[in-house]
Amino acid sequence: MPSELRFVYGMAALAALAGAASVAGIYYQDSAQARTNAEAMTGGSVRAGQAAIERYNCGACHRIPGIGAATGVAGPALNGVGTRSFIAGMLPNSPDNLERWIQHPQQVVPGNAMPDQRVTPRDARDIAAYLYTLRR
Ligand code: HEC
Repeated sequence: MPSELRFVYGMAALAALAGAASVAGIYYQDSAQARTNAEAMTGGSVRAGQAAIERYNCGACHRIPGIGAATGVAGPALNGVGTRSFIAGMLPNSPDNLERWIQHPQQVVPGNAMPDQRVTPRDARDIAAYLYTLRR
């Protein structure tokens, strides 16, 4: 291979690598930022929320990104729930309302299929923090 061509290929490979690295970097920054914002909004812990979602077994009824066995279909998938305007189609999506929903879905929409599970206020805050990281 002529050396000019080798140089061109080399530069192209380098550019592709740099592109991939910067996409990975942006993605990482994006998710770290989403976590920081979610914790600031709710005062909860994203990591504790993830554990609480597993403990209450929310995944029996919901698909939830980042939660291992969350493949249920009785309730709506929770992808992008952090960017939705309304919770259950009726409560404006705010941290207080999301925590209220998680604790007392039967008070908000009596008779809907999501049961009151005696979620503690602390767990509701942590779960809300986790859910607010789900932005797509
Ligand atoms: C037995 C099934 C079931 C379980 C268990 C369950 N949910 Fe639900 N969930 C539902 C259903 C059904 C809806 C839709 C209710 C409606 O729109 O009236 C819902 C709605 C929601 C919504 C609103 C979604 C939206 O798009 O507006 C959130 C958030 C939510 N659930 C979180 C949770 C969390 C967190 C847990 C665990 C603590 C949980 N759910 C456990 C069935 C369930």
